[in-house]
Amino acid sequence: MAAAAVDKLVFALNGRRYEVAGADPSTRLLEFIRTQTPFKGTKLGCGEGGCGACVVLIAKYNPKTDKVTEFTASSCLTLLYSINFCSVITTEGLGNTQDGFHAVQKRMSGFHASQCGFCTPGMCMSIFTSLINADKSKRPEPPKGFSKLKVSEAEKAFSGNLCRCTGYRPIVDACKSFASDVDLEDLGLNIFWKRSDKNPDVSELPSYSLGGGVCTFPDFLKSEIKSSHDHLNVDCIAASREGWYHPRSIKEYYELIGSYFFSDTVKVVVGNTITGIPGYKDQDLCYKYIDIGGIPELSNIVKKESGFEIGAAITISKTIEILKQECESVSSANGSVVFRKLADHMSKVATPFVRNTASIGGNIILAQKYPFPSDIATILLGAGAIVCVQVIAEQRQITLEEFLEQPPLDPTTLLLSIFIPNWISDYQKDTSLLFETYRAAPRPLGNAVSYVNCAFLGHASVDQQSDTLVLRNLRLAFGAYGTEHAIRAKKVEEFLTGKSLTASVVLGAIQLLRDTIVPMEGTSHPEYRVSAAVGFLFSFLSPLTKSIPQPGKALTSGSADSADTDDVRNHPVSSRREIIPNDDYKPVGEPIKKYDVELQASGEAVYVDDIPAPKNCLYGEFIYSTQALAYVKCIKFRSSLASERIIDVVSAKDIPIGGENIGSTFTFGDEPLFGDPIAAYAGQALGVVIAETQRYADMAAKQVIVEYETEGLSPPILTVEEAVENSSYFEVPPELYPKEVGDVSKGMAEADHKIPSTEVRLASEYYFYMETQTALAIPDEDNTLVVYSSSQYPELAQSVIARCLGIPFSKVRVITRRAGGGFGGKAFRSFQVATAAALCAYKLRRPVRMYLNRNTDMVMIGGRHPVKAHYSVGYKSDGKITALHLELLINAGISPDASPQIPGTIMSSVKKYNWGALSFDIKVCKTNNTSKSVMRAPGDTQGSLIADAVIEHVASVLSVDANSVREKNFHTYDSLQLYYPDSAGEASTYTLHSIFDRLVSTSSYVDRAESIKQYNNSNKWRKRGISCVPLIFRVEPRAAPGRVSVLNDGSIVVEVGGTEIGQGLWTKVQQVTAFALGKLWPDGADGLLERVRILQADTLNLIQGGLTAGSTTSESSCAATLQACNMLIDRLKPVLDRLQQQSENVSWDTLISQASKENVNLSASAYWVPGQESNKYLNYGAGISELEIDVLTGAITLLRGDLVYDCGKSLNPAVDLGQIEGSFIQGIGFFIYEEYITNSEGLMISNSTWDYKIPSVDIIPKQFNAEVLNTGYHKNRVLSSKASGEPALILASSVHCALREAIRAARKEFAYSAGSGTSPSEFQMDVPAPMTLVKELCGFDIVDKYLESLSTQERASLA
Ligand SMILES: Cc1cc2nc3c(=O)[nH]c(=O)nc-3n(C[C@H](O)[C@H](O)[C@H](O)COP(=O)(O)OP(=O)(O)OC[C@H]3O[C@@H](n4cnc5c(N)ncnc54)[C@H](O)[C@@H]3O)c2cc1C
Ligand code: FES
Ligand code: FES
Repeated sequence: MAAAAVDKLVFALNGRRYEVAGADPSTRLLEFIRTQTPFKGTKLGCGEGGCGACVVLIAKYNPKTDKVTEFTASSCLTLLYSINFCSVITTEGLGNTQDGFHAVQKRMSGFHASQCGFCTPGMCMSIFTSLINADKSKRPEPPKGFSKLKVSEAEKAFSGNLCRCTGYRPIVDACKSFASDVDLEDLGLNIFWKRSDKNPDVSELPSYSLGGGVCTFPDFLKSEIKSSHDHLNVDCIAASREGWYHPRSIKEYYELIGSYFFSDTVKVVVGNTITGIPGYKDQDLCYKYIDIGGIPELSNIVKKESGFEIGAAITISKTIEILKQECESVSSANGSVVFRKLADHMSKVATPFVRNTASIGGNIILAQKYPFPSDIATILLGAGAIVCVQVIAEQRQITLEEFLEQPPLDPTTLLLSIFIPNWISDYQKDTSLLFETYRAAPRPLGNAVSYVNCAFLGHASVDQQSDTLVLRNLRLAFGAYGTEHAIRAKKVEEFLTGKSLTASVVLGAIQLLRDTIVPMEGTSHPEYRVSAAVGFLFSFLSPLTKSIPQPGKALTSGSADSADTDDVRNHPVSSRREIIPNDDYKPVGEPIKKYDVELQASGEAVYVDDIPAPKNCLYGEFIYSTQALAYVKCIKFRSSLASERIIDVVSAKDIPIGGENIGSTFTFGDEPLFGDPIAAYAGQALGVVIAETQRYADMAAKQVIVEYETEGLSPPILTVEEAVENSSYFEVPPELYPKEVGDVSKGMAEADHKIPSTEVRLASEYYFYMETQTALAIPDEDNTLVVYSSSQYPELAQSVIARCLGIPFSKVRVITRRAGGGFGGKAFRSFQVATAAALCAYKLRRPVRMYLNRNTDMVMIGGRHPVKAHYSVGYKSDGKITALHLELLINAGISPDASPQIPGTIMSSVKKYNWGALSFDIKVCKTNNTSKSVMRAPGDTQGSLIADAVIEHVASVLSVDANSVREKNFHTYDSLQLYYPDSAGEASTYTLHSIFDRLVSTSSYVDRAESIKQYNNSNKWRKRGISCVPLIFRVEPRAAPGRVSVLNDGSIVVEVGGTEIGQGLWTKVQQVTAFALGKLWPDGADGLLERVRILQADTLNLIQGGLTAGSTTSESSCAATLQACNMLIDRLKPVLDRLQQQSENVSWDTLISQASKENVNLSASAYWVPGQESNKYLNYGAGISELEIDVLTGAITLLRGDLVYDCGKSLNPAVDLGQIEGSFIQGIGFFIYEEYITNSEGLMISNSTWDYKIPSVDIIPKQFNAEVLNTGYHKNRVLSSKASGEPALILASSVHCALREAIRAARKEFAYSAGSGTSPSEFQMDVPAPMTLVKELCGFDIVDKYLESLSTQERASLA
């Protein structure tokens, strides 16, 4: 074979040398790190390049220049063979328990920037790499202790990394703390200085040395590279006879593809990022790869007078760098505009860690071969790029346009390079160059493909006669709107060329554009895409058109324009975090860092998939049904490489005699593990494919062909309407059905006005914990099993597994160390994976691990309950509501799960206002969908939105500020007791009024609302809205066990029933233990906190562990711990007294040593059961959100969020604040961004990071102020604390309400009354309300209408 092929791969991982021979060339770097090395810090979150959990640093060494370059990469996409002679650093390589933690890890810990910790290693790597790359820049030396990074770059440092827990703000703070221009006082709560400290100093922070202080490229590897006989071409050294080929010339490439081994299963790659893209992901295993990155012609960068030639294998990041450098060096600003805008736009393509390995040529090939919504093809088309291609022996230069129009290419065509012309203004002809690019995408900083993108280029000159601008040489490129590939709108170009720009000409252009931009059949949001494209063309043309007024600021900008730099959207995130400290139970109440947090940052914290695979371990992946209701006739597999890897398929027939087909259970009933013989919903498990590795199992599961039969079955019930038609309901036990209040007919009769039945709908939400469902089952002697499960309810997992296998509960030990996020999704929904793994292990007598791939997890697991609500409301002219009647249909899916509780939680939240009288009819519908389950603030979230939709509707009809209607309908203490008879508490604890008033005044709500009115009056195309929402959230603590044991050396171990899912339960338990045992001394005991170790939940060690959910597990676990500590104190006190008679200063060590000698039982167990009085209580809070919408694209910018939350006496204000902020941002996801889309069978199809957009750092409020109130002592609550995990999520409904306000302003501006409402101000706005809906509600045709009216005026003025 001509192309180089050597036996082994050599690289460094965290400074250690690795030599690998004979590896499967399809192995990803992540898979290798996690399965073949001791390093487990690099996590798998999506496998699609879409989350950042797997980010590592890759360093390359150039022996010619003796330079090292470092960049981040998504190790889930990077092929192992492509890192030959590279150095890889994972978070363990930055710091660890043995060598000490790195400043990045320590600051992430100290700024409380890690909760479940699953995203933290990836965050650390992104931040670290940004720091060292900034440090390498030519910027001036920063002050000692700082990096050269700028505050404005902090968010961008990790813009592609997702975190589902924190809400990002503390991560921004941790990153900003390194920035040379930071004002340390602006940073939020941390452990390094006290809030009262007015002049924090960098020396108080864990020290950072310029350059990062980590050797990123070890000397031994440099020497090896230098001494390699092939050192002139080290990058190109190939590896593996197993099937990895690395041609070093075009000739070698063609020899390879012309050779005998070439077939469809051979993959040609550069960055291999295509494997992250749904639709183009590998459908089968590949055994042979041709890496073309080493062909010199593909890596050249040639600067010419006329432009730039960029090799096709150059990465997108490198291309951005080249273009930026060129802008800096080109003297004419006009001349560089094209390069600058291209670079800006490319900075929004994918994520930094994808751009660093993704090649520009690979992107264009994707655009050419498939209908991939490429940005790069569109903007380069707009910029007039020319490509150089090799087709076997022939080399051709053709325009990108011609290239895109060719039939899809095969591997005989090699894209060599892309030429970007250097466009300049022609001053001799008095023309100036115009170039703009735009993209409408769900996230501003990228990490989301566009709905539509465009690039417009032209030369403008003034027509002296008419004194108007005229355009020539126009190139109008549009892509991603549902087209085979990007196109030029030639008819529009021709139409505009040479014409004086007037409103009617622009209108004509737009009408022509509508005929040109026609999304393909099946494209989502077709009208939106066309309308956004129209908006972009209008944005481009209108500033050039004299007769179009330019009210307010710039119209809209896809790529940030320098003129826009004062725009608030470009401001870095800022925040204020206030806590009122509580010293009563020290160290309880102190904002100490999270237990084990450095371990989370350094990747040493062990999650289920980090437990080393036992010998002979096998791996499983579910096969699921794609039909809603059908008999499963047969399961077979396509003939493929992946199918050859199948070891077994486990299904219902493998359930042992005496066992049950059970996969989940709760009070209201069971759910089967497998659909057998009928698949009852799309997404139901039908079996488990078993293979030698997780990837083989995942890939094999894709090969399944299931034959279904529907004869004899009625059609599936998919919607709540169909459930009503078929009376398909789950019963709600009468004791759980919420109680009505007052007489609604009377209330309606008293009303001055009525709004008749009005609809609002709330869709489902997927949990998107960063760690998907996972379990490891290990069979043991005598038919026993140990199952490691990432679960919020190990106790019930144990019983489901035992019932499935038909063995006593005592034979099943379920262990949960920690979970990488839960949000309710690992309560009942975790059982299925644990049970399936257990069944497979039981059958095969081998350990079996299952770590669901993200797409499968999304399809199978379900989520929040969708609700369809109708409200009828009666109210007085002053806004006082006299009666509310609700009709609610809750889609519960196939099994009851916890759904019969949802009516209660919805109504509990609806009751936050005094409706006068309240009645309702609630149906919990049984449908053929995945079972819906508890998700953070289940029911309450939906109830709160419904309540506020009613308030806002009343306010809009009355044309008054919604807050006045809110306040009119706030509860008095008397009405509170009426609505919440079991939980209202004492009058003194009803703090909502004071919270609301405090928030309104501290956030200057009234002034801001006024200035928003003015803003809206003077801005046509951008509108703002503000809203303030109150919160009442009822919680009910449950019983919980705890055991505290003191070892002979004085160290303490604590076991509690609750599991650590990121909510800080262990931290609070640690604090409570130190406080409670310290009570033996009047001033507490020093150093107890550090002695406390919290153990994992283990269902055989500590029984009755219960469910971790409902925000109260931390406090009940603390209460049990407190009780156990009190027992120990009772036993230790007499010993201490005796010792103190001999010596005044008795230390903890002396006490324990003596107690041990005296055979005192140093282990105490308790089972805390909440008393009648402490059983239920109410939480209060309020939130204000202010936002801006771009009427042309529907893009939403959250300008500010202000929260006040009553935490009682917070057990740990840092933990509570983190919960509050994190849940608020998660709520924003539900109300605005996250689209849970199903197909006609009910199968979730937005099942990837590409389609399902949880909030990323670029969407959080630009200013975010949160305040934790510590209200008074309360004897009935655990150390006077209150819950914090869920309630604040509800406050995010203020974003939805503010959005409605902004849309209302837009509709009024354009007198728009479409949608299901009757007037501009009244319209139905469902949940979620993403930008596509915003645009729809603002009007898809407002630009056309607006231009029509201007054209009429133009004609009139001419007449
Ligand atoms: C998470 C994520 C987000 C993304 N977001 C965006 C986005 O917002 N906008 C956007 O435009 N793109 C986006 N992309 C696409 C990304 O830009 C491309 O995946 C990438 O550029 C492809 O380059 P690669 O080197 O990884 O190609 P590979 O994956 O290695 O190859 C892709 C295909 O091109 C072929 N190929 C590659 N180079 C050549 C060549 N020179 N000649 C012939 N054939 C070749 C390969 O055989 C293969 O078929 C995203 C990708 C990911 C993973
Ligand atoms: S796991 Fe690689 S980006 Fe998500
Ligand atoms: S801490 Fe970021 S995902 Fe949990």
